[in-house]
Amino acid sequence: MTSATQDRVFIFDTTLRDGEQSPGATMTHEEKLEIASLLDEMGVDIIEAGFPIASEGDFAAVSEISKRAKNSTICGLARANFKDIDRCWEAVKHARSPRIHTFIGTSPLHRAIPNLDMDQMAERIHDTVTHARNLCDNVQWSPMDATRTEHDYLCRVVEIAIKAGATTINIPDTVGYTAPRESSDLIAMLLERVPGADTIIFATHCHNDLGMATANALAAVEAGARQIECTINGLGERAGNTALEEVVMAMKVRNDIMPYRTGIDTTKIMNLSRRVASVSGFPVQFNKAIVGKNAFLHESGIHQDGVLKNVETFEIMRPEDIGLVQKNIAMGKHSGRAALRAKLRELGVELADNQLNDVFVRFKALADRKKEVYDDDLVALVADEQTNDAHEYLQLKKLRVICGTEGPQEADMVLSIDGVDHHIDATGDGPVDAAFNCVKMLFPHKARLEIYQVHAVTQGTDAQATVSVRLQEDGRIVTGASADTDTIVASTRAYINALNKLIVRRQKTAPGNDVKTVSYHGE
Ligand code: KIV
Ligand code: ZN
Repeated sequence: MTSATQDRVFIFDTTLRDGEQSPGATMTHEEKLEIASLLDEMGVDIIEAGFPIASEGDFAAVSEISKRAKNSTICGLARANFKDIDRCWEAVKHARSPRIHTFIGTSPLHRAIPNLDMDQMAERIHDTVTHARNLCDNVQWSPMDATRTEHDYLCRVVEIAIKAGATTINIPDTVGYTAPRESSDLIAMLLERVPGADTIIFATHCHNDLGMATANALAAVEAGARQIECTINGLGERAGNTALEEVVMAMKVRNDIMPYRTGIDTTKIMNLSRRVASVSGFPVQFNKAIVGKNAFLHESGIHQDGVLKNVETFEIMRPEDIGLVQKNIAMGKHSGRAALRAKLRELGVELADNQLNDVFVRFKALADRKKEVYDDDLVALVADEQTNDAHEYLQLKKLRVICGTEGPQEADMVLSIDGVDHHIDATGDGPVDAAFNCVKMLFPHKARLEIYQVHAVTQGTDAQATVSVRLQEDGRIVTGASADTDTIVASTRAYINALNKLIVRRQKTAPGNDVKTVSYHGE
């Protein structure tokens, strides 16, 4: 049996590489380790953990994820040169199951940038894939912009990569240009024309510029691709990548017409979606398929009536299938630690004892301020605890604000910078402005505030507010988030969270250190 006739589809998650490339989605080292461990537990077959040569930070994250992964294959990205490939191998070699993923742009537009003619590029592919294969048994090769590459040339270079030892050939739709029928025809064409195509796995890697990434990935699978590259919540450059939750649930719910299996424990989807939204600072749109807040809500009377009589009238999958608990029984100040742990487990959140203790202290404080603590409150609280952790460079220690009809508003703050407490007060045009001015005076920077958004987590005037803040400094974009019943506190912590991410991003993009902004084609 060839790979294309098997029903097992491998899930390759690139949230930590392609997803993290979204402007503003920078994650800290700890956040990357946490997401990788959740992906590993969920049953993702291959985790693309980063681009090791891009920065010291990427290298450290890929190495550490490689050391910690229990089940997943760990993959790193490398351009088509020996230096990138060697660096990638140095990072992934610690994994129980390592993979090197090397790529080069093969379409006419991409060939023009490194100024290689067809023969020179073919030679480069042969040499780099051979080099990668000499280091690692598991090598993935991608012709970037494959969907805009001439078919004859694509067949030629895919054959070269297979002969040089690639075990997976990924066919990227880099600019989200293809459509479902073309996507399946392309895989069928390669399977038919390329000698040795039946000995490797074809992967599909779709971007969502025209909103067709999920459809294109599934169409490729129908034609014989057996690896889908995707990200949680569809995070990724521009309009994002194929969303993991969409392809996995589509194959599960419509297994009658798409008879494929994955190794994903779908009940872990909701928690991962929430964590990725929180650490990336990219909230999930309310009507997003599978994981949006409204995905299982029935607002109209006809729908509500139908669902109450027979849930299948308007629901094609159960919320429990993705780990969404709908009991929403409120917890209060008398609820104990064991009840909190049980409730968090129901919500798909598993915490170590010390983390549970910290969350419990904050839960009690919240329950004192708010009569009833709902599931969404707990999710926001845990997310905040995990995002704004105690090891950050900047940390808010104390904040008092005076505001009202008589300005100027005043803020009085203690901010810890690299472990040392600093005290300051400032005025501003409103309480948020006054608090942000305190931060700016203690930690001067040039970052511009691009987006400031506030959402109420639940109903009522005592609801927690989640705040997200987007900053931009010299082309570097970062997003911070926080939640609190006090909107000013949440705003200030979100601002500080964004600045902590900016510090990480500055290190990553120090001159000579940034592959992502230099080019995908450079040496
Ligand atoms: O979209 C793309 O082409 C990529 C490659 C690096 C695989 O992300
Ligand atoms: Zn991509």
